[in-house]
Amino acid sequence: MDRIESGVPGLDKMIEGGFPYPSVVLLGGEPGTGKSTFGMQSLFHEAKKGNTAVYLSSVSEPPWVMQSFLSEFEFYDQKLVDTKKLIFLDLGEKLNSGGGAVLKEIQKSVEMHSPKRIFIDPITAIQTILESKMKYRKFLHELIMYLKGQGCVTFITTEYSYAQLSTSLDAFMCDSVIMLSYIELENSRKKYLEVLKMRGTNHLTGKRSLVIDKTGMRVQPEFR
Ligand SMILES: Nc1ncnc2c1ncn2[C@@H]1O[C@H](COP(=O)(O)OP(=O)(O)OP(=O)(O)O)[C@@H](O)[C@H]1O
Ligand SMILES: [Mg+2]
Repeated sequence: MDRIESGVPGLDKMIEGGFPYPSVVLLGGEPGTGKSTFGMQSLFHEAKKGNTAVYLSSVSEPPWVMQSFLSEFEFYDQKLVDTKKLIFLDLGEKLNSGGGAVLKEIQKSVEMHSPKRIFIDPITAIQTILESKMKYRKFLHELIMYLKGQGCVTFITTEYSYAQLSTSLDAFMCDSVIMLSYIELENSRKKYLEVLKMRGTNHLTGKRSLVIDKTGMRVQPEFR
């Protein structure tokens, strides 16, 4: 099985060298746990190697909003955006036209750019426009099947807590699930990353301390 590095220091040695390739990785966690940072850092990692990476936003905000947050990180490279190695796209408008239109838009951008990494952030916005669980399951199934046929690694973010995992369709259907979380300490919170599932991989288990600073995100070697 082929693998592709995550682009997050400290993570690859927990997952036998990287993500199975091709595969779909679900990044779950509550607001502010670092899901978008994870996905974007991984896209920049790919773009720096000279390959194309695509970011698909479903929150209907112009790309410059995300870019201005990201530009605080050292991994952000405007040259890669200007030369279209890292492409920012907005799914926003398509959300009003239903799941079929969203899927078509994703397929269109993949066919146009042939990305090696894709990041759909967040899938929760698409879930809310599909009225039933059945429709969402169908959408997700088609999306995952399509993406895996394209020879790329896709990250999908979803806003949820550990308690919601056991009933989550996304977690069952994706190849890998990484949960990001923060735990309240006396006067602060600490961030954590946990690999909950990775098909075909003997991954380490348990929460690992996660650091986010101006260099980006990294996983600490052991639980602290
Ligand atoms: N330069 C920085 N230095 C340290 N920590 C930072 C820095 N930039 C962001 N962070 C941390 O990362 C968090 C934001 O992470 P991110 O936007 O990736 O989270 P998210 O899980 O995508 O959130 P949401 O669900 O709201 O989209 C901030 O709340 C902050 O704690
Ligand atoms: Mg986010």
